[in-house]
Amino acid sequence: MLRLGVLVSGGGTNLQALIDCAESGRLAAEVAVVISGNPAAYALERARLHNIESLCINRRDYAAQDDYDGVMADTLRNRGVGLVILAGFLPRLGPSFIKVFERRIINIHPSLIPSFCGKGCYGIKVHEAALSRGVKVTGATVHYVDEGTDTGPIILQKAVEVRDGDTAEILQRRVMEEAEWILLPKAVNMFAEGLI
Ligand code: GRF
Repeated sequence: MLRLGVLVSGGGTNLQALIDCAESGRLAAEVAVVISGNPAAYALERARLHNIESLCINRRDYAAQDDYDGVMADTLRNRGVGLVILAGFLPRLGPSFIKVFERRIINIHPSLIPSFCGKGCYGIKVHEAALSRGVKVTGATVHYVDEGTDTGPIILQKAVEVRDGDTAEILQRRVMEEAEWILLPKAVNMFAEGLI
């Protein structure tokens, strides 16, 4: 079965969506390892609660990007990971990492790329930008990761309505519930079944 390496930095609700699908037999893959650079990330606790190996690898412990990339790639390779998922993962992964896992790294972004994406546009800032531009529809995108920020080939997108009175937090939650938690397991299944 396809083995997933899930990289996280925060709360881990997308990780949870993958775990829930796996435990209920709706995922053609298993979560093999969860890695964060932030020891306080609640996502690591989610992994522990489900007996999934969780590791902390901090970019700051490595002088050069290549050293960090090498450790990350070796850690995932040693665990037989066939697909790397960036599920709210903030540190930059360099070209040497991307080369090792070329077309085997996917990211989830909480907007309809190419809107509200790119350097510095992550987390709640994405939804603040969508609200301040006044768009009526936003959504989420799953895409392959290349060397740019949110520039890789798009795999799946799902639209979500913006409603009157939305705050960034309300919109963020709706995008997660109506798009992200559905799209990410779907993309994993498509990858596992060779449908991308
Ligand atoms: C999600 O909105 C995801 O699209 C973005 O970062 C957020 C992570 O949320 N890349 P969580 O940690 O999965 O709850």
